[in-house]
Amino acid sequence: MKKLVVLTGAGMSAESGISTFRDSDGLWENYRVEEVATPEAFTRHPQVVLDFYNQRRRQLLTCEPNLGHYGLAALEKDFDVEIITQNVDDLHERAGSSNVLHLHGELMKSCSVKDTGTPFDIPPEHPDIHIGDTDSKGNQLRPFIVWFGEAVPMIDQAIRLVEESDIVVVIGTSLNVYPAAGLLNYVRRGQPIYLIDPKEVNTYRTDIHFIRAGASEGVKQLTELLKDLP
Ligand code: OAD
Repeated sequence: MKKLVVLTGAGMSAESGISTFRDSDGLWENYRVEEVATPEAFTRHPQVVLDFYNQRRRQLLTCEPNLGHYGLAALEKDFDVEIITQNVDDLHERAGSSNVLHLHGELMKSCSVKDTGTPFDIPPEHPDIHIGDTDSKGNQLRPFIVWFGEAVPMIDQAIRLVEESDIVVVIGTSLNVYPAAGLLNYVRRGQPIYLIDPKEVNTYRTDIHFIRAGASEGVKQLTELLKDLP
């Protein structure tokens, strides 16, 4: 089976009711990145940061995957599908996708401030992280999120997946944030690249097949186009 790598961003989950970051009324219009999504912010005012992510987590628990997520899961019938997502939600997994690599962490997990590489599941019935919640060694827990200024531990694995792919699909990302946006550099010339987004996305690559649609409709169109590939 051909290897299909899908890079997803916030737009993938927009139709599930989760705000994107940079659209009008996106999250970064209402919050300052440096106040809620950096290690310095967590040191300065941990409660503000915990509140922000506790709110995101509570919202996620009310959301469901959309037809785009389900459509990608269905492509596993015909392709070896690897999803690389910048999203911290678990909607790809809930829709049934088997291989999901989270570049920016996972909302339904925590980790200790001393060991950000070992995640713990957050039970949906107790979705908040509080000041004073610790691991077994007494270290404060924090969201398992890759904050701005932190290394992206999964990037090497993501690069390998892109290098080994036959087809690449990009869905719902403004390609503003590196190193995720740089993954397109690793797509070989001549290899098909599809980009699904209702708005224009700036990229230096000239060999992209744009599907100007939202995620649900876009994945439907993509599925048809993939049938015509040799
Ligand atoms: P952005 O908010 O930057 O971009 C969202 C993209 O989704 C835009 O190109 C929109 O046009 C598109 N979009 C909107 N509605 C859509 C729909 N229904 N279907 C498909 N696409 C739609 O989000 P990201 O590129 O994901 O990082 O942002 C990257 C990172 O920046 C995030 O992972 C987050 C953020 O700061 C961290 O928090 C570490």
